[in-house]
Amino acid sequence: MAVTILLENDKRVVENEARKQYVSRQKGTHCSLLLDDEQVVVLKEVKEKDLTLEKVRSIAGDIARGLAAQKVEKALVGDDTIAAAFAKLDKEKAVTAFVEGWDLGSYHFNSYKSKADDSKAELEVAGSAEAVQAGQIRAAAMAFSRDLMNEVSNVLNPETYPDVLKEKFAGTTAEVTVYGKEQLEKMEMNGVLTVCRGSKYSPSFVEIAYQGDASKPLVALVGKGVTFDTGGISLKSGKDLSDMRMDMGGSAAVAGAMQLLVQSNAKVNVVALIPIVENAPDNTAVYPGEVIHYKNGTTVQVGNTDAEGRLILADALLRAGELDAEYIVDIATLTGAIVNALGTGLGGVFGDEELSHVMKKVGDENGDFVWPMPLVDAYDKTLASDYADMNNISTLNFAGSITAGLFLRRFVPENSKWLHVDMAGMMNHSSASGYYAKSATGYGARLLADYTVKISE
Ligand code: BES
Ligand code: ZN
Ligand code: ZN
Repeated sequence: MAVTILLENDKRVVENEARKQYVSRQKGTHCSLLLDDEQVVVLKEVKEKDLTLEKVRSIAGDIARGLAAQKVEKALVGDDTIAAAFAKLDKEKAVTAFVEGWDLGSYHFNSYKSKADDSKAELEVAGSAEAVQAGQIRAAAMAFSRDLMNEVSNVLNPETYPDVLKEKFAGTTAEVTVYGKEQLEKMEMNGVLTVCRGSKYSPSFVEIAYQGDASKPLVALVGKGVTFDTGGISLKSGKDLSDMRMDMGGSAAVAGAMQLLVQSNAKVNVVALIPIVENAPDNTAVYPGEVIHYKNGTTVQVGNTDAEGRLILADALLRAGELDAEYIVDIATLTGAIVNALGTGLGGVFGDEELSHVMKKVGDENGDFVWPMPLVDAYDKTLASDYADMNNISTLNFAGSITAGLFLRRFVPENSKWLHVDMAGMMNHSSASGYYAKSATGYGARLLADYTVKISE
């Protein structure tokens, strides 16, 4: 059964007064209608002030989810219908957004359902083939990030995660290098080694290099890969900590961004740096008060083992320096405090002020929203330690996201332009709406890929 998507002013709707009245009385952005014995979906007019590419993605996602629930197998739409429905927007961009939202709205994570509902209404767009393909590539990259985040921690862990990445990029022009525990010891990645000490898994570090154009400045994308965060000896409490399997959301964003860049043959020079650990309590785990010696000579007191993300990101930032990255972006589910500050609608971006605004614009257009946040110099001294160079927690009882950013800043190579994205509030959605499912978001893949393209122009 195929359903056609039409406009509110389509002649098959307006030529019949009863139909016209019915459609105009329906609330929302679209409605289903029977034309004789054919089911159609009517796109209703969106007020111009509400019309954005994000709105287009959301409408498409809602329609796709609704039709899948009705077990509709196919939907047909013309590129001109999409262009006319969202006339204020650029046609190609609107088509890409519609396809992207459609595919993501159809996303399911069904690996563990005994009776899986993976019904999807296939979308067939007539025309604008390139824009359609771009939408499909974008959605697939974000779905890859979602899959990684949703996967459970006994399946995706520091030992198995590198293989998943190797397999994903096999046969592409991207090159994946995996460092295991012994190599990490040689490389003095002591943050990664220390955080993973209490885990039954060995830590790892993955680098994915892609040179679409080797003459472009090197961009390093750094992603926090904590496959489960129990807090360690500073154990977390809570009724259900299942979501802490998504504490590798930063690494999922980076992996998704790499897929998007590779599949769209982007003319960029980029390397992904992904430290992978599990933060678990054990008698072998790092205890509060221990000191980590970093490769650059800095010593860090582990005041709280639950502030583990910054400890592994520090190694990756130093690695970006060894590789002479001109630009560095790190992304992490770093602090609960960013959720208090910004909620669940956008991430916080810290670092270079001008570039923060460049990134904000990128996110405004592609749906991975960020808001620029300050790195308050005066708070830096609150990271002092009584016996090491610094502590991994601040003495302040507030501004936790800022002090986490200040911690990272101490490890940023001198010659690199750096941004840090705290995506803790964007990790997962509590309900299905628009093109989001009630699970991991896949946030950050589009943001990092589009930002990399933007600064490489
Ligand atoms: N992974 C958490 C942050 C987090 C919290 C992500 C909620 C997603 C949702 C991080 O490792 C953490 O535990 N941060 C601590 C830092 C504190 C001990 C300084 C926090 O935010 O409470
Ligand atoms: Zn933690
Ligand atoms: Zn964490």
